[in-house]
Amino acid sequence: QHSTASAVVNLDVPGPTISRHLYGHFAEHLGRCIYEGFWVGEESSIPHVDGIRSDVVEALRAIRIPNLRWPGGCFADEYHWKDGIGPREDRPQMVNTHWGDVVESNHFGTHEFMRLCELLGAEPYISANIGSGTVRETSEWVEYLTRGDQAPMSQLRSRHGRETPWNVTFFGIGNEPWGCGGQMTAEQYVAVARQHATYARNHGQNRLCRIAAGASDDDYAWTETLMKHLTKGLGDKRPADIFQAISFHFYTFSGTWADKGSATEFSGEEYWATITKAQQIREILAGHAAVMDAYDPHRTVGLALDEWGTWWNVEEGTNPGFLYQQNTMRDALVAAVHFDAFHAHAERLMLANIAQTVNVLQAMVLTDGHQMILTPTYHVFEMSVGHHDAQRLDVHWKRQPTTTPGEEPADPAVDALTVNASVKDGVLTITAANLDPDQANTVELELRGAHLGTVSARVLTGETVSTHNTAAEPQAVAPRRFEDIETLLYDRGTQLNLTLPPASFITLCADIT
Ligand code: AHR
Repeated sequence: QHSTASAVVNLDVPGPTISRHLYGHFAEHLGRCIYEGFWVGEESSIPHVDGIRSDVVEALRAIRIPNLRWPGGCFADEYHWKDGIGPREDRPQMVNTHWGDVVESNHFGTHEFMRLCELLGAEPYISANIGSGTVRETSEWVEYLTRGDQAPMSQLRSRHGRETPWNVTFFGIGNEPWGCGGQMTAEQYVAVARQHATYARNHGQNRLCRIAAGASDDDYAWTETLMKHLTKGLGDKRPADIFQAISFHFYTFSGTWADKGSATEFSGEEYWATITKAQQIREILAGHAAVMDAYDPHRTVGLALDEWGTWWNVEEGTNPGFLYQQNTMRDALVAAVHFDAFHAHAERLMLANIAQTVNVLQAMVLTDGHQMILTPTYHVFEMSVGHHDAQRLDVHWKRQPTTTPGEEPADPAVDALTVNASVKDGVLTITAANLDPDQANTVELELRGAHLGTVSARVLTGETVSTHNTAAEPQAVAPRRFEDIETLLYDRGTQLNLTLPPASFITLCADIT
């Protein structure tokens, strides 16, 4: 049955900034993400700009992708960047051993990626090859990308048609070095990574944020080793002199790594197993942040969750190495659960990247030839744009969620709801999710300390929690006007009573004065 939870938001007590980079994305040379997804080539009949699909760019511009991580993932550690520059017909091929063992043409390389970022209005996040590349390759790639004078790599870049250097801030030092990125121990990785990071220089005005490749899930020992060695032997240098951030990865599924579960056919039990798994992100973020706090109390090193999202069994009949999966209202709610945790950790978390933008894992858009559909996850990103670079407004629940497993909740709606508020340029954004797939829940929000202008709101929900968009029904899950709002004025502000349908996500905005 329907329950109600109450919370207070003080509109005049702004918290930390929610960096737009928490809403970042990831595009790997994997399956149909780069080829077909972004890159169709200059000869394609699919509308494109310089070989890059126009429909995908247009869709992604609407969610204001702040940064895009490339070229991997596991692929990054076998990618040799010089194979991906110069005339396309002359570029050597390679084998993508991690993903489907297919031949990679290298037609999408550095210039194509930087052009994509320009079209998207996104900052590039480049991942260097530590597993099978050399320190020299890393050093020269940074020079090629960011140096402006007559240095050898700047000249090479000019010869390939780009005289002005690009700006690159985010620069990853390897990927999953404990696994596909070289099977290293944390100690081995630190030694290698310090070399690469040292020679990834700041050229001219460009300042790199070097991101050390971090743990899987709750491997706090890995983070501890990184933090320990980042400071060791550096004299009076602060940790941020070598690395400016540490990453980790966290994926959500309802089954096991071997059998992760179906993207579209799942029981109520599997639904809750998924949500419960996704909710672990909050505790895991807190765990890594606590380790970092012990070594770096001034937060000079950022935490970067540079891969997250749902990972299901591939769609039937598709290449198992291509990681193509559908995306339902359940995935949208997994995203909402993550954003809730990201905002809570906005002080330490500086960047996050969902895996992976197009046609792979928890994608924003799915393409099939000329067709493109938006996924439910896409809509949650679009509906959260108001939080980008806004100041967090803490939500104070009047009753706390349950913490003891099995305990009867004092206020069942608190367990089922996430509510996030922020303010930017005098505009209040509130997003909320009802994770309960069977019942509507109401949140009574007391907004204190300022007056609200006109409220406009949208809701995202499907017929069931497994509803998803297809070419035949591209709008099965799409935002609609949300009208289930009761507004009460009282002496200290406004109370909004929002009744969220089962398995739904809402966004609301209003001017505040
Ligand atoms: O996103 C798919 C893969 O997941 C990435 O290549 C790798 O880093 C992770 O294991």
